[in-house]
Amino acid sequence: MSTTEAEGFSFLLARHLERKEQEQAALARLLHDELCGQLVAARMLVARLLEPSTRASDVQRIGLEDVERQLATAITINRRIVERLRPGLLDHFGLSPALQALFEEQGRSAGLEVVLRLPQEPLELSPEAGICLYRVAEEALDNVVKHAQARRIDLQVVRQATRCVMTLRDDGVGFEPSRLEGLGTVGLPLIRERLGALGGRLALTAAPGSGVCLVASLPLAATLRAAAGS
Ligand SMILES: Nc1ncnc2c1ncn2[C@@H]1O[C@H](COP(=O)(O)OP(=O)(O)O)[C@@H](O)[C@H]1O
Ligand SMILES: [Mg+2]
Repeated sequence: MSTTEAEGFSFLLARHLERKEQEQAALARLLHDELCGQLVAARMLVARLLEPSTRASDVQRIGLEDVERQLATAITINRRIVERLRPGLLDHFGLSPALQALFEEQGRSAGLEVVLRLPQEPLELSPEAGICLYRVAEEALDNVVKHAQARRIDLQVVRQATRCVMTLRDDGVGFEPSRLEGLGTVGLPLIRERLGALGGRLALTAAPGSGVCLVASLPLAATLRAAAGS
């Protein structure tokens, strides 16, 4: 691929991913506002039917309690789907709280020891950069859960002078990186392209028996503005 073709591909990929994120965000809003609203209303109705004044029989009460439990589960599943489609914490509070919630919920439910070092101050990333790093972390965490048989995962985010650098390390079985090209998988290649399309980089260090370390970096919003102005 020539340099011009590669730039054209990068631009197209960035546009495609941006549109996909917008579509997912619209779907998440719909599920949150419409479906969740209906489920919560139904749960409140059942709670009212369970009040002593309704004098429900024991059989009715057992049935209603069952329905209430099922509605509570449906509300939790709906919330998880909404978060997966569009992490609300990222939009409202930034990358660190969003990553903390993702790793604490999914990492710990997979039985992993999760060690987080996340900055408290705002990272000053563009919205595209924020969602890009979040999706990279999501794929890396999925990989650890699916492939690594790890006991521990470490996630660190550091704000440097011009870049934001995110490092993920696991202590699992690792793999031979040269095998990657022949595998024809899309997870890791896509996050590399995704970072590249926003001026970032991915470095992968892995070996059988030595876990995997991913370092993803992206320019800060101010760095991009300065480059565009020069
Ligand atoms: N953290 C990890 N530990 C062990 N192996 C990994 C890890 N991450 C990726 N791999 C290996 O690299 C391959 C490619 O990963 P990826 O491109 O994400 O595809 P997929 O997850 O769909 O298999 C995986 O199939 C697995 O063999
Ligand atoms: Mg994967």
